[in-house]
This record gives sequence, C-alpha cells and structure tokens, in this order.
Amino acid sequence: MSTYTEDNRKVTTHRLSEMKSRGEKISMLTAYDYSMATLIDQAGMDVILVGDSASNVMAGNTTTLPMTLDQMIYHGQSVVRAVKRALVVVDMPFGTYQGNSIEALASAVRIMKETGADAVKMEGGEEIRESVSRILSAGIPVMGHLGLTPQSINKFGTYAVRAKEESEAQQLIKDAHMLEQLGCFAIVLEKIPAKLAARVAEEVSVPIIGIGAGGGVDGQVLVVHDMLGINKNFSPRFLRRYADLNTIMTNAIKQYIDDVKTRDFPNESEQY
Ligand code: KIV
Repeated sequence: MSTYTEDNRKVTTHRLSEMKSRGEKISMLTAYDYSMATLIDQAGMDVILVGDSASNVMAGNTTTLPMTLDQMIYHGQSVVRAVKRALVVVDMPFGTYQGNSIEALASAVRIMKETGADAVKMEGGEEIRESVSRILSAGIPVMGHLGLTPQSINKFGTYAVRAKEESEAQQLIKDAHMLEQLGCFAIVLEKIPAKLAARVAEEVSVPIIGIGAGGGVDGQVLVVHDMLGINKNFSPRFLRRYADLNTIMTNAIKQYIDDVKTRDFPNESEQY
C-alpha cells in the first residue's frame, strides 16, 4: 500500500495550495482525541479535522448544534497534542460566529490560542461574510464549508443532497467565489451533485475538499468513526467503509467478558 508518509514536513495551507496546483489529491479525516489522532497522523493524513461531528460520534447527540466552544477546544487540544505532520483544523461550533463578527473573532482567537490548531472551519456563505472576513484579517486561516451544512439542519429539515435546484446551485457557486476572494485557504463541499462540485473545483483556485461531492474535487474528507465501521447505523451512499471495527471491537469485548467469567483471565503470566 503506497502512502505519502515519506514527506514528513508539516502540512501548511501553502502546501495544500501547491497540491491543488500539481493535481495531488488531499486526504482529510476527522479526529477528536489523542489516540485516534496519533494513528491518523502517523498514517500520513494531510489534514485532520476536529469536526463538530464530535457531537454525534463522541457525545451521542442527533445534531451538531449542542457542541460548545469549550468542548471543541478540549477536543482540539487532545488532537493537537498528538499531531506532528497534518494540518489541524478545528470546527467553530454553532452559535459562536453566526451573529456578531466581533464575537466570532473572539471565538476563533480562543480556538487558536487554547488549542494550537492551524486553522478554523466555518459553515455558510454570504450570511457569514463579515465574520469570515474579520477572522481572516486577524491572520487566522479559515476553511469554508458549503452545501449541506449540518449546523443549519433545522432550516433544511433534512440531510438530503443540497443544491440540486438551479437557484441553490448558483448561490453555492457565488458563495464559493466569495470565500475564495475573502481569502479562505480551502472549502469543504458536503453532499452536493458531483458535477456541481467539479465545476466549483475547476473555477475556484483554492482546494475544494468533498464529502459526498464526487471525485472531481481536490480532496476527500470522511468522519473517522464512519469509515472505520464503528457506526453500524449510518450508511449514506457516499460512505466507503475501510474496516468493520464494530464487529472486531464487539468480538474482542465479548471475549474479554467470557475470559473474566470463566477465570481464564488473568493467567499465570498476567499477574505479579
Ligand atoms: O464536523 C465534521 O465532521 C465535518 C465534516 C463532515 C466535513 O464538518
């Protein structure tokens, strides 16, 4: 299996831009804790996203909305402690940037100061322009996020594919250009038609990272618990499962219970 781990230099926003220029695809995966982030970084991932999907996969909530700034900072600190090579991006949680750009900057500054991450990610287009602009002018790299933006689930009412209608597709293209012009270093496109995503990647100079957005973009992101098969109940069409950790972990845990009950564990060599 070939990987890109031979290059141990720290991944920067500049290097991501170079990767787009030479047509090298960008790999991105979520992580929320030290142990998982260590594995992912050592495997050679380009970007690690401390996603607010922590709300779903770590905390068991049905949406990302309950996530607080303190919780994102805790996860961000745990991941940054582990990572030597990947670029670490921390999601700004719902309610910390949508209303007031001064508060948005204060939230982003806390994330950068308290976690040591490399960048923040924000969901939305025109409606968050002022917050994105203020954060960028403070020298904080911003990754945009358009298409299905889970923090707006109550407005959408569904997790279905976005921007199938022409008017929404046109708005998305406009928003992507706007984020590029403001100075975002990359944009995530979530769950939109592959043709539209490829068009954005073609037109916009910054790297476009897709999740459920097809193969015509500059990189891919998945939620680590989903791609490792830890979650059994989430199987959208875009998800490829690279392992069945649910079965492996359940069997191991059952075996441990059995060994304790039958007094097989601990044996002579497992005690002092
Ligand atoms: O929070 C998250 O995991 C994300 C990815 C799905 C892009 O935003």
